[in-house]
Amino acid sequence: MKCRKCTEKAVINMRQHKLALCKTHYPQWIIDQTQRFVEKYLMFTPQERVLVAVSGGKDSLSLWDILWQLGYQVDGLYIGLGIDGGIGYSDESQRLSEQFAHDRDLRLNIVDVEGEYGRTVPELAQKTHRGKGKPCSVCGLSKRHIMNQAAVQGGYDVLVTGHNLDDEAAVLFGNALNWITGYMLRQGPVLDARAGMVRKAKPLCRFYEREMAAYALVRGIDYIYDECPHAVGSKTIYYKELLNRLEADRPGAKQSFYLSFLQAKENGLFRTPDPEQVSSQEIGVDGKLLHPCPTCGQPTTTGGECAFCRMVADIR
Ligand code: AMP
Ligand code: FES
Ligand code: ZN
Ligand code: ZN
Repeated sequence: MKCRKCTEKAVINMRQHKLALCKTHYPQWIIDQTQRFVEKYLMFTPQERVLVAVSGGKDSLSLWDILWQLGYQVDGLYIGLGIDGGIGYSDESQRLSEQFAHDRDLRLNIVDVEGEYGRTVPELAQKTHRGKGKPCSVCGLSKRHIMNQAAVQGGYDVLVTGHNLDDEAAVLFGNALNWITGYMLRQGPVLDARAGMVRKAKPLCRFYEREMAAYALVRGIDYIYDECPHAVGSKTIYYKELLNRLEADRPGAKQSFYLSFLQAKENGLFRTPDPEQVSSQEIGVDGKLLHPCPTCGQPTTTGGECAFCRMVADIR
């Protein structure tokens, strides 16, 4: 198959776009599309400071690469979770993130959970008996907290993550199965800042996972191929498999599922209970009012300290 824009051999055929591109035109297309999404969803401007959370995986390193090429002011953040899983998962992903930053002369901030809180994420999960033997929920809680804290303390305007369309469609599918509208209300390409919480954006949310893998490959980005060892058997992976089966039969189904949801939201499908009284900025995913955690200042709906600070207090 030939590239749509020249006579070179195509490296990827995107059936949902009816578009095949070569190794020169493909990365350029991804970069142009990303710029389009950044503008369309008002994610950030060239004058703003962007913090990209990098896991060492293909999505987040590609995102950093794309924003760097677009000329944005973008630093990285790597969170050392202390996950080994017999493959030195965290060590290897940190090494690849550091290598990436070094090769491009970019700044990478590193927060090591064990160094900061005295325990690795798996140890925190075990010690505090959270997550039924799996560290994933403690991991998610810790990552969200630390990402926001690092962005606020570093004076960044926006925090960006490498979530792709497959990630977003799987989360949406899980939430739609149970109509968890609190989460659905917050899901989207950009989440505005609120007291104690920096703006968040997902510039890759409209690209398929295979498109990001192809981008990383074509650009020669060295990333960690292994998934987190604890992700095996997770609900998200199961939903991704289901959606992949749907996509195989109906190319574009995944994209349409996500984009139609965004459209429905824009048309007012999910409204806050009383838009006159409270804005969606002031309520949490459980529909309760947000207030600042007395310890860390991040917004929470619990009566006192936020879930992260309570967990950390548990091990003291
Ligand atoms: P995940 O939750 O593992 O699917 O990752 C989603 C996004 O979160 C990635 O694309 C990264 O932007 C970010 N992320 C995941 N793990 C880390 C980490 N250890 N340090 C910094 N950012 C991370
Ligand atoms: Fe956090 Fe797997 S448990 S990345
Ligand atoms: Zn071409
Ligand atoms: Zn707190």
